[in-house]
Amino acid sequence: MALASAPVQLPAAAAVALMAMALLLLSATAAAAPPPARAPIGLPGCNTTCGNVSVPYPFGFGPSRCYWPGLNLTCNTSDSHHPPRLLLGDGSLRVTEISLSNQTVRVMRTGSIINTTGADFAARSWSVTFGRAFTEHGYLLSSGNELVVSGCNVTAMLSADIADDGEEETTEIVSACASFCASNSGGAHEMAGSMTDKYCTGTSGCCLAPLPSSGVPKGVEARWLYSATANNKSAPVPAVTVFVAEQGWVDMEKRADGVGEVPLLLDFGVKQNLPKVQPNSNDGCTQYVQRMVCKSEHSTCNAGDQGYTCDCESGYNGNPYIEGGCQDIDECKFPSTEKVCFGVCINTIGSYDCQCPQGTYGNPEVEGGCVYYDFDDTDAVSSSRPTASLGAAT
Ligand SMILES: *[C@@H]1O[C@H](CO)[C@@H](O)[C@H](O)[C@H]1NC(C)=O
Ligand SMILES: *[C@@H]1O[C@H](CO)[C@@H](O)[C@H](O)[C@H]1NC(C)=O
Ligand SMILES: *[C@@H]1O[C@H](CO)[C@@H](O)[C@H](O)[C@H]1NC(C)=O
Ligand SMILES: *[C@@H]1O[C@H](CO)[C@@H](O)[C@H](O)[C@H]1NC(C)=O
Ligand SMILES: *[C@@H]1O[C@H](CO)[C@@H](O)[C@H](O)[C@H]1NC(C)=O
Ligand SMILES: *[C@@H]1O[C@H](CO)[C@@H](O)[C@H](O)[C@H]1NC(C)=O
Ligand SMILES: *[C@@H]1O[C@H](CO)[C@@H](O)[C@H](O)[C@H]1NC(C)=O
Ligand SMILES: *[C@@H]1O[C@H](CO)[C@@H](O)[C@H](O)[C@H]1NC(C)=O
Repeated sequence: MALASAPVQLPAAAAVALMAMALLLLSATAAAAPPPARAPIGLPGCNTTCGNVSVPYPFGFGPSRCYWPGLNLTCNTSDSHHPPRLLLGDGSLRVTEISLSNQTVRVMRTGSIINTTGADFAARSWSVTFGRAFTEHGYLLSSGNELVVSGCNVTAMLSADIADDGEEETTEIVSACASFCASNSGGAHEMAGSMTDKYCTGTSGCCLAPLPSSGVPKGVEARWLYSATANNKSAPVPAVTVFVAEQGWVDMEKRADGVGEVPLLLDFGVKQNLPKVQPNSNDGCTQYVQRMVCKSEHSTCNAGDQGYTCDCESGYNGNPYIEGGCQDIDECKFPSTEKVCFGVCINTIGSYDCQCPQGTYGNPEVEGGCVYYDFDDTDAVSSSRPTASLGAAT
């Protein structure tokens, strides 16, 4: 403990101060409120887990009172080969994580978007449209995803519907990259399409492009860079594969063959039965919307392309969408890696009080920031030469 290991001999006064501090610490511990009961994440009587995925309101499944219209999911328990599976939309997307604070839903989608393995290479381009799950349910493809293209001398483009000042949606190319193979050797052939190469450099038979903003994905189109490649059937032509995947997935995943499920991040918002988001208003949330959607005290409301979202005020966390959902954070109980107070910490509602122990002064919010008054000096308080520091040992 810090007190026992104070590095220098202490003047008597400081020793007294230490005892006082120990008492203070004790009393602070005694006065600490009991840990609050675990706050609910869903509405009363609603199931908030499916398999091992936690489903906080406004998401839900089962009876319609359990979710905000449009944010219903399906929990499929009927497949004996799998644990219960949480599904979105038409069932082609499996939900693995819902983050209210990030305003995202992580889903898994099976396979690539374009895969020309075995295709007729006379084709000059391939295109696919996204499933109805996106367009009908009002989710946005998050900017936390990226476009990944594998193949030789091919370019791919992702188009999305972008809201233009909230007025009209126009379809625009939002992301594109070209994947080039410098030589026609067997090496390039092997590299391309296999995706086992860690780095997508654009000349390695693989390229990556970020998504500049979230949007409703419309489709993906891939084309040959040179028309000759498309028509020369005597040359070996590596397959073209295109993915949209959560950022970092392609670097982390080392696949020998094939691709299972690909993670995607979606942005969500509460939208149905509410006035349209007014893009030019101050914060976009009217009092009516705030009251209807962000039901917890100590919550704030945001408006975006995806609809309305809520946050807990700083100092609180939990579910801002339900009454009593935002709960005080006990900053004094943070683990040592996130510790905010190295002095005497007293949690308060919505914040915390942090002071140097009695007999010391300085900055209690940094490790070793509290130092003893130097009693050798004539003017003790103004001393700038600390003789010992507290709180350095942990
Ligand atoms: C909640 O749903 C899961 C999966 O559907 C099921 O196993 C569990 O029994 C349900 N719990 C309640 C309280 O309905
Ligand atoms: C849920 O279970 C799957 C395997 O069934 C596991 O891969 C995943 O990490 C688990 N997720 C959580 C949040 O525990
Ligand atoms: C649940 O999954 C099983 C097996 O995958 C499937 O046959 C069934 O139609 C699904 N049920 C629902 C309600 O989606
Ligand atoms: C959500 O509810 C709507 C309307 O009841 C229904 O058409 C839709 O299929 C539901 N979606 C899911 C994923 O259950
Ligand atoms: C939320 O976002 C942060 C920062 O991007 C990320 O580190 C974290 O993993 C995200 N959490 C979830 C549950 O998605
Ligand atoms: C890709 O294009 C380059 C430059 O035109 C060419 O040298 C190379 O052989 C092409 N690679 C494939 C696999 O078509
Ligand atoms: C087609 O590919 C073969 C083998 O790589 C090459 O010899 C030939 O010149 C190519 N033809 C054209 C028109 O590019
Ligand atoms: C492309 O399709 C082939 C055959 O259908 C499959 O074996 C391969 O795993 C797929 N590749 C990717 C990257 O999805």
